[in-house]
Parts: sequence; C-alpha cells; structure tokens
Amino acid sequence: MAARVVEACRANTGKTLIVKLSPNQTDIAEGARRVIDAGADALSAINTLMGMQIDVHSRKPTLGNNQGGLSGPAIKPVALLKVHQVYQVAKQHGVPIIGLGGIASAEDAIEFFLAGASMVAIGTAIAKDPLLVKKVNKGIADYMVRHGYKSVSEMTGLLELNTDTVLCG
Ligand SMILES: Cc1cc2nc3c(=O)[nH]c(=O)nc-3n(C[C@H](O)[C@H](O)[C@H](O)COP(=O)(O)O)c2cc1C
Repeated sequence: MAARVVEACRANTGKTLIVKLSPNQTDIAEGARRVIDAGADALSAINTLMGMQIDVHSRKPTLGNNQGGLSGPAIKPVALLKVHQVYQVAKQHGVPIIGLGGIASAEDAIEFFLAGASMVAIGTAIAKDPLLVKKVNKGIADYMVRHGYKSVSEMTGLLELNTDTVLCG
C-alpha cells in the first residue's frame, strides 16, 4: 500500500519524496525496498509503535481513541534495529535515512548514525526540553572531534556487528 502511494506521488511531482516508515509492519526492510522501487528519494524511520493503556478502575482505555502511538525513549531499541534493517536495503540504492525514535541525547543520535542514519530527528524529547537540539548538536560535535570525524556522513553505517552472536529471543 505504501509503495502504491509513493508511486502515485512520484508520478505527480519531481519534488523530493521523503517516505516515513512504520515499525508496525512484519518486514520493514522489504517495505523500504518497495517504496524505494516506487520512487522514494529518502526514508524516515521510525514512526510510533501502536500501544494501549487501560484505566483499571473504569476498565476503559485511557486514550480517547482506545489506542495510540507510543514514542520517546521506550521505543529507541526498536527504532535502532529498524534503522539498521532499513539501511541494509537503502545503502544499496544510495537512499539516505532520517533516523528517529526515542532520541534524547547526543549519544542516542550517534547510535542512529552508526546504525545507518544520515540525519536524525527528535520529537517527544523536545516536549520535555525545548532547548535539547542545541545540547545534542554540541554533544555530536564533541564526539566527532574526539573520534576524528569531519562530517556526520562519515559516521553513517559504521556499526560493526558482532560475528560470534548467539540467536536470542
Ligand atoms: C504528539 C505527536 C504527534 C505526532 N504526529 C505525527 C504526524 O502527524 N505524522 C507523523 O508521521 N508522525 C507523527 N508523530 C511521530 C513522530 O514524528 C516520531 O516518528 C515518533 O514520535 C518517534 O520519535 P520520538 O520518539 O523522537 O518522538 C507524532 C509524534 C507525537 C509524539
């Protein structure tokens, strides 16, 4: 369905198409491949994970819509893995990824670069600290000086996977 939407957009505009991927799909790498084939110029990952909370006294969902999008630090491990998986496809096509999902510090942002993001975005954590972006930028700059990187793009996808892994879970 996402690929069909991208295809329709691509047929109607020459403008840059950034396609945001939902983590609520079985195989996000396959989803990425399909929207790239349909004409996406860049990808953004991830959107919120669907969740629910229940008021045990009223026995009703606390959200008016019964369910809603979970965001913020709780979703960072999921987001990182999804960005890593999407990157395996996107790098073959030279398609950049905007990584997001739970970023609240420079170290969080750097994790996303290493996993394959070319840019990062912060949503929920800004509500807690509206000046967070300045701090994150400074932290990234400090890390780059310490590790000898001249550009953020030098960090994209630098993750070194363990080779002696055991399958868990
Ligand atoms: C209040 C709120 C509104 C959002 N609205 C949208 C939206 O309209 N479109 C969209 O693609 N994502 C929307 N998102 C998802 C965010 O863009 C982001 O993908 C997600 O929250 C994960 O990043 P974060 O943990 O830094 O917030 C919204 C998130 C929040 C918390």
